[in-house]
Amino acid sequence: MSHQELLLGVNIDHCSTVRQARYKDLPETCGGNIEPDPVFFAQQCEFAGADSITVHLREDRRHIQPRDVERLRECLRVPMNLEMAATDKMLEFALSIKPDYACIVPESREEVTTEGGLDVVGNRSRVAAIVNALTEAGVIVSLFIDPEPEQIQMSADLGAPTVELHTGAYANAYHTDQREREFNRLKAGAEQGHNCGLQINAGHGINYVNVTEVRTLPFLQELNIGHSIVSRALFTGVEESVREMRRLLNVR
Ligand code: PXP
Repeated sequence: MSHQELLLGVNIDHCSTVRQARYKDLPETCGGNIEPDPVFFAQQCEFAGADSITVHLREDRRHIQPRDVERLRECLRVPMNLEMAATDKMLEFALSIKPDYACIVPESREEVTTEGGLDVVGNRSRVAAIVNALTEAGVIVSLFIDPEPEQIQMSADLGAPTVELHTGAYANAYHTDQREREFNRLKAGAEQGHNCGLQINAGHGINYVNVTEVRTLPFLQELNIGHSIVSRALFTGVEESVREMRRLLNVR
């Protein structure tokens, strides 16, 4: 793999959403008649070329469960990216798991900026404490933020090595006359972040159509994609859905 290749992180949360739709009241997360197993799904993603696997352990446990994260930690060969809220409970859990990467995401209303990214400026001391504790434990931290100048600058000031730019507003605007404006905001954010020394990742709402434009963002290293890959896997199988996305990421 050349260094210029854009990396694909596959978010497998929605495989667990399907399992929870039927089995959320059981204490077990796999075995017996419980399906689908997100660990098996993640392994198929690996075989198909996923560069990392992302899971978001939400406070309400609506999809991924703690046991899923533990099992993934034992068997994944590619790096694990744990999305987590900036809470003491999640920090404790993350330190027990020691994922390769942790992406700090907003969960409660007051942590969210207008567009939906983490409000690093408004929560700077809490975010700083989480970034420091994870970094000390050897976890590479990224902050999931809107492409806003002050959020990007604060992310760099707090010493996070990576930001994941929130592409949700762009994805929602894709079929409207606001698309170019949203794309230009992401572009400016990627340039600013790079100039601040940040690694630039992006994600949310990326699909097989809009990826062909998103992948042209400057300085982009990795895209995190979940819903569209899991959705397509229903029709094509996991291997094909991951392979096709990875191919689209790196079409020249
Ligand atoms: N990146 C982050 C930080 C996320 O929280 C999510 C899931 O909401 C994604 C990427 C993947 O988004 P999607 O499932 O829309 O591809």
